[in-house]
Amino acid sequence: MVNESENNLLWHPNSVTREDREKINYQRGVCLWFTGLSGSGKSTIANELERHLNHSGYRTYLLDGDNIRLGLNKDLGFSEKDRTENIRRIGEIAKLFVDAGIIVLTAFISPYRIDRQNVRDLLSPGDFIEIFVNADISVCESRDPKGLYKKARAGKINNFTGISAPYEKPLKPELNLINADEGDIIQNTGKILNFLYERNIIKNT
Ligand code: ADX
Repeated sequence: MVNESENNLLWHPNSVTREDREKINYQRGVCLWFTGLSGSGKSTIANELERHLNHSGYRTYLLDGDNIRLGLNKDLGFSEKDRTENIRRIGEIAKLFVDAGIIVLTAFISPYRIDRQNVRDLLSPGDFIEIFVNADISVCESRDPKGLYKKARAGKINNFTGISAPYEKPLKPELNLINADEGDIIQNTGKILNFLYERNIIKNT
């Protein structure tokens, strides 16, 4: 590993600051980090939340597991090492979005506690909001929107989270959302909006 000084790299502060950007955006940047099993509803809730925020005039961007893995991270698979690298890169991107004064929503399984903690540490206190989309594996498996649990049970996919690879539940997420059925999506979106309002991140819900 090469450190910055050996590599002759130096961080240049930009003349336009995060505060300058936030001022003209009329909002503050923040990272809403959704974590949970495949099929737990992370993307669905994040999409619904982004729709609400966008309609209320907030500047947002949703980074979604499958989409990022089709582009930026298409060189990565699902080994522990690759997942760690996946989350590290998303963390760095999320940091840039926060610095741009954007509300960035990320929907990745992000199964390892240490990887999520590293992203939390990368951001300033209060800028990383961990949202655990807490749905039992039996519920996710019965939904199986992409038919992946079926394939994993049949041994056609290796290292499948919840079946042949671990998922480490958050110990102290900012929000723990029980997402057992479809009706929970609207309710859970409301809970996040209330949380953002109470934290002074948004002005209305
Ligand atoms: S993470 O573990 O590195 O955070 P990420 O959220 O990017 O995962 O990607 C998960 C998505 O990839 C799942 O929703 C599913 O569609 C797909 N996928 C393909 N193979 C696997 C696997 N072995 N384990 C989990 N998800 C997989």
